[in-house]
Amino acid sequence: MKSRQLCAGVQWMGAVDWNRRLFDSLIPLPDGTSYNAYLVQGEEKTALLDTVDPAMENVLSSQLAQVDHLDYVISHHAEQDHSGSIPFVLRKYSEATVVCTPKAKAMLMEHLDVAAERIKTVADGETLDLGGKTLCFVHVPWVHWPETMMTHLPQDHILFSCDLFGSHLATSELCAGADPYVMEAAKRYYAEIMMPFRGAIKNHMRKVRELSFDMIAPSHGPIYDDPEGIVSAYEDWTSDRVSNLVVIPYISMHGSTETMVNYLVDALVERGVKVQPFELSTTDIGKLAMALVDAATIVIGAPTVLGGLHPGVFSATYLANALRPKARYAAVLGSYGWHTKAVEQISGLIPNLKVEVLGAVMCKGLPRADTFSALDDLAAAISEKHAAL
Ligand code: FEO
Repeated sequence: MKSRQLCAGVQWMGAVDWNRRLFDSLIPLPDGTSYNAYLVQGEEKTALLDTVDPAMENVLSSQLAQVDHLDYVISHHAEQDHSGSIPFVLRKYSEATVVCTPKAKAMLMEHLDVAAERIKTVADGETLDLGGKTLCFVHVPWVHWPETMMTHLPQDHILFSCDLFGSHLATSELCAGADPYVMEAAKRYYAEIMMPFRGAIKNHMRKVRELSFDMIAPSHGPIYDDPEGIVSAYEDWTSDRVSNLVVIPYISMHGSTETMVNYLVDALVERGVKVQPFELSTTDIGKLAMALVDAATIVIGAPTVLGGLHPGVFSATYLANALRPKARYAAVLGSYGWHTKAVEQISGLIPNLKVEVLGAVMCKGLPRADTFSALDDLAAAISEKHAAL
C-alpha cells in the first residue's frame, strides 16, 4: 500500500499484513494486522515515527523512495514489529538519529545492534522542534514493555500512541470512523497484550486525558478519527468494574466434565447470571481473553489425565494467570477416574489472580445427584456474589 496523507506534513506509512495469522507464535490474528509508521515533516526537520516488521521492510522502503533526507527515527517501542526495520532506515539515511527513551536505547542496542552513537534519548515531557511541528514525548512504561513512549503533536492535534489503543486488524480503511468491529478488535488487542499491565495503563489514562487531540494514531490497526470511544473504552476496561459474567474454560474427555459445565450454565442462567463457556480444544484463545476483560468469575472445568490436570486446561490456566484479569471469584469443577491432583495444581497456577475461591466440585466418574446438588450450591454462591457487585 502507498503512503497516505493524514494532514499537511503528516503521512501514514507502514504495511498492512493481510495474511499474518499468529503473533509471538501464540496470539491468533483472525483479521491480520498492520504495522503503522508515520512521517512528520516540519519546515526544518523530518521525522519517521516507528518502522515496520522486518518481514515487510520492502513496503516501507518503497514508501520512503521519495524521501531524500531524514533527521530522526522516533522509536516508541523496541519490539521488533515496530523497530525491526530501524537498521534498514539507518543504513538508508546515514544522517538520521534514533530518538527513544533511555530504556529503549539499551533494548535497541541489545535486540537490533543499533550503535549507541546513533541514538538520542529523551526524557518524559521533552520536546523536539521540527519547525512548525513539535514532537512532545510522553513516557508510558509498561504499555506493554518497560521502555515505551508516545508522541503528541499539538499543532495537528494527533496522539501517536504506539501499541496503546491498537488493534490487530488489516483493513484498507485509514480511519476507524464509527465501525464497531474496530472496537471489538481493539478489545481483543487489549485483552491479549495490555491486560496484564492494567494498573500501569490506568494511571497513563490520566496522562492521555491531559492531552488535547482529535486523532489517535496507533501502531496497529486503523486511526481513531473520533477518539473518545476508544479512550472511554480503555477507561472502562482498566477500571475495577466487573460485569455479571461467568467465564468457563473447560475440556471434557469422555463427557462427564461437559455434563457438569452444561448443568452449571443452566443453573447460572436460571439465576440471572450471564455465562460464556469455552471448550479449550477448539476455542479461539483471543475470544477467551476478551471475555476475561470484565468477567466477575472464572470457573475452570478440568478433567484429570494421569492423575493431574489435562494439559489443555493447564496451558489455558497458566495463560489466564499471566493475563491477570480482574475477576474477583473463581471455582473449579471436573471429573476424574480414580484419583486427582487437579485442584491443587490449579491453585498453584493462579498466584496472580486476586480471587476468592468459591469452591471445587469434583466427581469420580459420572456426575450424579450429589454432584448436581453441589453445582446448584456453586451457582447460588456465584449468583449471590454477583448480586452484590
Ligand atoms: Fe506491536 Fe509491542 O509491539
